[in-house]
Amino acid sequence: MSVAVKQSPLFNDRKSFKRSRPSWVDDGNEDRRQKTPSKVTGLSPNSHLKSPKKARKSLNGFTGPSKIEDSGRASVNVSKPLQIQEQRSKLPIAKGKEALIREFRENDVTVLLGETGSGKTTQVPQYLLESGLAGDGIIAVTQPRKVAATSLAARVATEQNVNLGSSVGYSVRFDERFSPETRIKYMTDGMIVRELMSDSLLSKYSVVIVDEAHERSLRTDLLIANLKTILRQRNNIQDVKGKGKVKGNASNPLKVIIMSATLDAEKFGLFFEGAKILYVQGRQHPVKIYHSSQGQVDYVDAAMRTFFQIHTDYPPGDVLIFLPGQEDIESLEKTIQIYSNQLPHDHMLVLTCPMYASQAAGQNSKVFHPTPPNTRKCILATNIAETSITIPGVKYVIDTGKCKEKRYLARNTGGGFDTLLIRDITQSSAMQRAGRAGREGAGHCFRLYTEDAFKAMALSAEPEIMRCSLSSSLLQLKCLGQDLETLDLMDQPADESMKSSLIVLFLLGALDREKEITSVGRQMAAFPLEPVYSRAVIASTEYGCTQEVLDIVSVLSASSKLFVESSEQRDAVSEARQKFRHVCGDHLTILNVVKAYQEIAQSESKSGRKEWCRRHFLNERALLEANDIRDQLRQTCQRLGIDHRVSCGEKDDPVIQSLGHGLALNMALLQPDGFYKQAIGQSVVKIHPSSTLCDKKTPAIIYDELVYTNQIYARGVSKIPKSFILTFGTLKLQS
Ligand code: CDP
Ligand code: MG
Repeated sequence: MSVAVKQSPLFNDRKSFKRSRPSWVDDGNEDRRQKTPSKVTGLSPNSHLKSPKKARKSLNGFTGPSKIEDSGRASVNVSKPLQIQEQRSKLPIAKGKEALIREFRENDVTVLLGETGSGKTTQVPQYLLESGLAGDGIIAVTQPRKVAATSLAARVATEQNVNLGSSVGYSVRFDERFSPETRIKYMTDGMIVRELMSDSLLSKYSVVIVDEAHERSLRTDLLIANLKTILRQRNNIQDVKGKGKVKGNASNPLKVIIMSATLDAEKFGLFFEGAKILYVQGRQHPVKIYHSSQGQVDYVDAAMRTFFQIHTDYPPGDVLIFLPGQEDIESLEKTIQIYSNQLPHDHMLVLTCPMYASQAAGQNSKVFHPTPPNTRKCILATNIAETSITIPGVKYVIDTGKCKEKRYLARNTGGGFDTLLIRDITQSSAMQRAGRAGREGAGHCFRLYTEDAFKAMALSAEPEIMRCSLSSSLLQLKCLGQDLETLDLMDQPADESMKSSLIVLFLLGALDREKEITSVGRQMAAFPLEPVYSRAVIASTEYGCTQEVLDIVSVLSASSKLFVESSEQRDAVSEARQKFRHVCGDHLTILNVVKAYQEIAQSESKSGRKEWCRRHFLNERALLEANDIRDQLRQTCQRLGIDHRVSCGEKDDPVIQSLGHGLALNMALLQPDGFYKQAIGQSVVKIHPSSTLCDKKTPAIIYDELVYTNQIYARGVSKIPKSFILTFGTLKLQS
């Protein structure tokens, strides 16, 4: 065998994977995870919807309802309408359809639990629509991730045999497809929270389905808190002495359905006093779990070797690899492609399919297409594939045991920052990941960590509200006349992080000393941007450079990175980009790129533009996305009466001044030792190697963000006059 990877497999033979019992359900952890909610009412014994107690029984037996034929690989977007209807009727949830509709009709709030792939997200909205339960209103289905919202909407449109954007649509930040006839709308939780600002009762929605509630994302928590008050108002529920809660007549009542892939429903049930809890039995085949006998230092390399071990030694079946983020996905995809091309001809081909949250709509559709003959699909995904999206055909899972987690390091002085760190997953995630191998038949899960490491993992993740920056949410709540301190939340954030977000908003001028929202704050909240950037846009009206600031902020808000990094071609990259470099730093460098691209776009064809981007190591997708974002920001400007065409021409100062207003908290001063000290806050930082100012000794800087690897780096850096620091941040804080 000539393949290098084959010479050093991670495990020499199958036995060297420390084979454990199918611990997916058999070990003690599973029991802890599936604690039976106390307030459960099961359905009738014949029903296929089961109470969690029964559910546990069926899970322990490790077999799905074997009578049900699996739709398998045929379940793709390209299927014909008839086939699709057949697939729909074979989903585990279909047998409980009538019972579900009955329960939804009778209850204002339902908590629906069920294993991934049982059909909750795609079917429940259609049942509501087809049974007339949604009345004339819209059914909202919320998702914590953009890519889940867009791809599920596409799937349901196909199932309904309609064009995406007609009766089935979606709405995610900077991208939407819906029309006045839309009845089922998949949307990110952030978008529906934003809608509260213009319609605090969400009156156009007759049903709000909060999906993936177990993830407890920040926006989902805010939505759930608001739904509780909205239900009271729209369903006319009053506390009557001696009688408890009494429901009066309501002209536009709301139904809420909370859906989750894990079984800890108790908390949701308690929060929505008296919610009905239902369980839909999924389909789960046995999964053999293998733990590596020792910890892996390089999980990307370990995943690659394990993949080829499966590919050469195991029968056909697709492989799903869980990785923490886009960078690892891209690098592993490249390596797998290189090595698989060197395999002898008698081997199956390998088709790689990346899947991560920031992918543009439609970019991942090949993942759902049937695997071509004589080919093994290798899906490289983040935790998006854990519960949000079910990919058919997976028989093998490789679990690196890592994920990326956002965590805010709050500082009392207001100088805190968000970190995005790679960390160990939780036991709950590990079990979900393993479960993905057993949906269509017996499967295998290769954990690149030891059994002891698994046991040492936290049981489940901490809700995001307890570990993330709250300033953007607090600003939105203030617009609604609400406050984090008084809102009835499922979990309260830490005091110091609330305090820190108040300081941030005060320094940006969005709140006054009485913590009341200012007119600047209201304008800021109207932009779908982080407060630092919406503040910069508003400042740009003072300095006459709205056009330039919108150009920069649009690129910074795109999900793809503008600059393609290539460690092998570092010199070529730096030479190709030389002409965009601006002495003031990264922000104006971005502006130079945008301007150059706009010029090219006028004269070049599509392929010419593409080639130009390739030559300059620029990611055209980021530029195209930024164009869309800018269009939307311009619309917001128009609504606020801001002229977005105002330009400062070739002048640099106004742009830097405007950005300085937004990044007032992100200023740092050069120290004698070459490090930078935050003007507000205590952190000592270095300029990130990717910055144009990296090796310059600039006395004072502003930066977009701090990233924490082995030390704290400032990324997206521009030079500012030292006097700025006095004008903005510190003086204000002291005054
Ligand atoms: O929400 P839950 O995990 O219970 O299941 P679902 O997302 O409604 O998925 C039901 C079925 O639809 C699964 O078999 C998926 O593979 C399939 N599906 C698909 O084929 N293509 C999509 N874009 C989305 C779902
Ligand atoms: Mg789902």
